[in-house]
Amino acid sequence: MSWKITSTSLQPEQLAVEESLYALANGYLGVRGNFEEGYQKNLPTIRGTYINAYHDIVDISYGEKFIGYPETQQKIVNIMDAQTIELFITSGGIEEKFSLFEGEVLSYDRHLHLDKGYTERNIHWRSPNGKELRLTFERIVSFERKELFAIRVTITPVNFTGKVKIRSAVNGDVLNYVNENDPRVGNHREPLLFTVSTKSEDGLTYVLNRTKRSNLETACVTDYIFSTGERHDVVQEKQVLTVVTMDLTTTVTFEKRNVYVDTLRHGDHIVAVGKEIQQTIHELTFKQLLTEQQTYLNQFWKTADIKIYGDEEIQVGIRFNLYQLLQSAGRDPYSFIAAKGLSGEGYEGHYFWDTEIYMLPLFIMTKPEIARGLLLYRYSKLEQAKVRAKEMGHRKGALYPWRTISGTECSPYYPGGSAQYHISADIAYSFIQYYLATSDEEFLHEYAAEVLFETARLWIETGHFRDGKFRIDCVTGPDEYTALVNNNYYTNVMAKYNLMWAAKVYKDLANKNKAQFDQLVGRLQLLEREVMEWGHAAANMYLPYDERLDINPQDDTFLQKAIWDFEGTPREHYPLLLHYHPLTLYRYQVCKQADTVLAHFLLEDEQSFSTIKNSYNYYEKITTHDSSLSSCIFSIMAAKIGDSEKAYQYFRETVRMDLDNIQGNTKDGLHLANMGGAWLAIVFGFAGLRIKESGLYLSPILPKAWSGYECTLQYKGRLLHINITKQSLSIQNIGPTVDLFIYNKPYTISNNQTIEIEK
Ligand code: BGC
Repeated sequence: MSWKITSTSLQPEQLAVEESLYALANGYLGVRGNFEEGYQKNLPTIRGTYINAYHDIVDISYGEKFIGYPETQQKIVNIMDAQTIELFITSGGIEEKFSLFEGEVLSYDRHLHLDKGYTERNIHWRSPNGKELRLTFERIVSFERKELFAIRVTITPVNFTGKVKIRSAVNGDVLNYVNENDPRVGNHREPLLFTVSTKSEDGLTYVLNRTKRSNLETACVTDYIFSTGERHDVVQEKQVLTVVTMDLTTTVTFEKRNVYVDTLRHGDHIVAVGKEIQQTIHELTFKQLLTEQQTYLNQFWKTADIKIYGDEEIQVGIRFNLYQLLQSAGRDPYSFIAAKGLSGEGYEGHYFWDTEIYMLPLFIMTKPEIARGLLLYRYSKLEQAKVRAKEMGHRKGALYPWRTISGTECSPYYPGGSAQYHISADIAYSFIQYYLATSDEEFLHEYAAEVLFETARLWIETGHFRDGKFRIDCVTGPDEYTALVNNNYYTNVMAKYNLMWAAKVYKDLANKNKAQFDQLVGRLQLLEREVMEWGHAAANMYLPYDERLDINPQDDTFLQKAIWDFEGTPREHYPLLLHYHPLTLYRYQVCKQADTVLAHFLLEDEQSFSTIKNSYNYYEKITTHDSSLSSCIFSIMAAKIGDSEKAYQYFRETVRMDLDNIQGNTKDGLHLANMGGAWLAIVFGFAGLRIKESGLYLSPILPKAWSGYECTLQYKGRLLHINITKQSLSIQNIGPTVDLFIYNKPYTISNNQTIEIEK
């Protein structure tokens, strides 16, 4: 039960939401859970197939354009639609088309199998003429064969015999979804790609598309495997139709295997590559593909699963989130994790800080090889970040774009975009966390060092000393309802960490690998004086503090503003960003999301417990959680300050956010940062994990509603299995002896040893 999500709803609004929930992906290819046979006319739907990082470029048009505004932006492209399979049954000379919106649906259920990695739709349908059919649609986007999206349809006549005609399409004539009233969704109406060619040859069909401006090509090569029947292909300008007719006297099956290849990953001869891939899988049965999928997932769940005792809804919720994260994470140098993964077009396929702060910890602690690959994506964009820093008036340093696909800034609205300089410190932070959790020194020296040095340079360029303190002016912190402020606590404290680590790694590299050090320092023309400045700025970083309230103000002027009129704000005015001009929001103490509270989570040793607690209480009252990146952080910090009830409430919202469509926009895609946040809320919240230079810390608490929970963490080459019950906490170590802190007390656990701590 807790290994699948299930639905029996055919409500139009819910179906659009389910297109995201039942989306299948593998980090490369993503397909929304649309119905193969289509819907009724006018039913809200976003039919979508995406390849991670496969994008087009469009101009950004401004009324008034200033220096440094990005001129173009990238957009993920909705590519060829291979989902369509229409069914027509003929009996007694009458042909009827299968549709869930005509005739009678005698039974209907739909599942996403989180342990097996496929979706399934079971239907018992009676046609308007009384012919009954049983249908099963199964779909898989293969983890092992990243190009493959396969569908199997099983058709059983219940009370008649006759024929079934299947009309399957691969359609190159596709558009992106547009919603002009929601800034979180694209508004570009022009097609982003066009069809270059279509053909049918040697049993395969081909549709080749090219993007308008980025000149990227993708091909969909399709193979069909079915019970005995007749097939003919109709090749049209923008699509290929394949029509198969089979006798329907008993159960028949029809398989459609689509291989998607693109010029980013597969070189110039994508058609040939697609054909080759098809040939290698032609002999494999659908069952074999499913078995491979399951084997892959067994490996994943072995380290990533979290077991929760006493709450089924939460159990399925967390597994669903972890599964979607696995589906979304890019596994090649071109791709990262988009805000919506590969489940929809919200935020146009862009990558944000969401990945570093909300998602990477899961991968670092359960699948470090995926985390490493993701960090390499950021490393590969360092040169562009350096160019961006120059465009923004800095002499040196790296300013990572607020939102991007291929590495350049895509945000046209600078107060809520480019001004979020903290992204550079967030990236630095994640490189450090990876190192602290893996001890991967080679990676630290080869890649992290350069990222840390260049981001550290940015802070020196951006900030300045006044009255002996290093200050950073005119930036926007994570809270997007407050913009362009001086000394945002979050930015300053993260920059401090960035600077301090840059100086530390500089020394470490100099000591341990002189040749590599010389080479890097020479290449970057890095001066000893700069490194001293890093240390000096870090040591003297100004961190706003209000003595009277014993809190960290979000920025220099935050506490001087009036508090937003929460009582006078009708419920339907949330999220505020859809109802109030940004300037209105900027004038008040109102937070879209965790900002200072997030800083207290990431760098807790910077402040006393009382400041952290008071800040939590202060900001909680003025935070709307209009961003899905918020409730998980409040959950973690509620756990930290000892309010386990609150922690649980926030956690419930987090873990079920998409399953229950709590933000109301799941149809545009899943909230991947929030999904990572659900994992954070368990592991960093309830289990109290912190990864510090001094070691690994755990301080588990057990939410009242549960009788226990278990998780597994990878830590410096060991597997730590943590089991928390009402009575005790046990930690098993598989791997070399490990030192860690439990409730702040040091413990040593040797290989294969389990320690038990009574509560
Ligand atoms: C949040 C940002 C986030 C973006 C993408 C916005 O609503 O405020 O923090 O990066 O969504 O998820």
